[in-house]
Amino acid sequence: MSETREFLLTREQRARWMRLDTAQLLKRFFFCERSLLIGQAAWIPAIAPLEIKTSLARFVWESAQTADSLRERIFELRFPSRMMEEEGTDRALIALFTAVKDSPSVPAFLLSVGSVLLPAMRDAYESYLRASDLIADGPTHRFLALAVGEKTGQIRGFESWIEKSRSEKSEGWSEAAAWATEVAKRLSAVGGVGVQSSASSVTAAPVPGSKAYCIPVHPARDQRFWPCRFYWPDILDPSYPYGEGIQLQVRSAISHLNEIWAVEAGGVILNAFADVLPWEWVHDSARWTYDESRHCRMGYERLVAWEFRLSDIPLGTYIYESATAAATVDIPINLLGMLFFFETKNIRHKPQRARLFHSYGDSLSEHDMDFDWADETLHASYGKRWLKELLAIRGQDPAAYDEVRKNCEKLVNNYVRTATAKEITDLRIAADQLLNHAKERRGMARV
Ligand SMILES: [Fe+2]
Ligand SMILES: [Fe+2]
Repeated sequence: MSETREFLLTREQRARWMRLDTAQLLKRFFFCERSLLIGQAAWIPAIAPLEIKTSLARFVWESAQTADSLRERIFELRFPSRMMEEEGTDRALIALFTAVKDSPSVPAFLLSVGSVLLPAMRDAYESYLRASDLIADGPTHRFLALAVGEKTGQIRGFESWIEKSRSEKSEGWSEAAAWATEVAKRLSAVGGVGVQSSASSVTAAPVPGSKAYCIPVHPARDQRFWPCRFYWPDILDPSYPYGEGIQLQVRSAISHLNEIWAVEAGGVILNAFADVLPWEWVHDSARWTYDESRHCRMGYERLVAWEFRLSDIPLGTYIYESATAAATVDIPINLLGMLFFFETKNIRHKPQRARLFHSYGDSLSEHDMDFDWADETLHASYGKRWLKELLAIRGQDPAAYDEVRKNCEKLVNNYVRTATAKEITDLRIAADQLLNHAKERRGMARV
């Protein structure tokens, strides 16, 4: 009697991957998501349209959530080990995902992420969901099914930006197409993301046309707005009132919109410290960046609801540039310090302002301020925790985190002193114009 007849055997597809095979695949997905989100975060300051900046921040957060679920699931499957060793046989694949950060231009970045890497991730997740066992591996199914939906939305976003950018500006697209083709070729040479074994783990030479990533000194700005460095007169003139009533409503919305600097800062620091700090940093800073993008959108949506013309709305750069203008080595820590400085400085005003908005019957401003406050309490703890950890890694006293904050205050004050007389006058005119428009709209606004 042959051996096979002694036992109950079946060719069930669901037994295809054992526990550790599954963990191996999920580890590949984790590293792909991690590289993808770091690259997207790094590019936020270099891309001008507000919609792309704020959407990238959301995509970064979505990827971080998926990566975090993957990581926890890998630990469950490999219990008791909680080690995430290096990429192993997926090294070449992950190196390619990381290489996209060195895209030569904005079109090249958009095209390689939107038409190559993201579709590869979506397809890999779909293949995984088809081939894996819904019973044994149910917990993975839940979050990867969500990730497929998110990836589909992200691809749609990239496609619309590519189409729009291409129609507005034809230059740079042939170079971008060549870059994306090369990335696609290399992806297929290493065996794609997929669910098969890697075809090659040999890391190739840099993709032709690569340009080493560096932090933009000046953040790109959406040209639909009024471009400026300082976005409200009280920044340059402490005697100019922050105001109450209609002035407070406008000032607060302008403030929220201008939190775009914090989205950019979040993206830059996420990338800069991703290999220095543990995974929890990437996870926290992804949420931080996403939150700031929501605050920015809150301001944008209120200003649009009040029917302001975008070309009248000041969109500044001074906080970001206060950090980048002063030094080259310490830009990331200064940007982290700026976030910490402004958040701890402003948080105490928020509940009072929410109450004032309530007394005006402006439920939209009240609602936005209230949610913003909850996010900011979270951010204050991020700032303190990670500044301390960075200082400890640098061999400095972790208790000196407050020195970083004070130094950032100095950097901002120095930068504010560079304002020209013309900037001060122009800003006054712009603010007056907005306030006059607000007064004309009083009572008609759709709050
Ligand atoms: Fe914020
Ligand atoms: Fe914040």
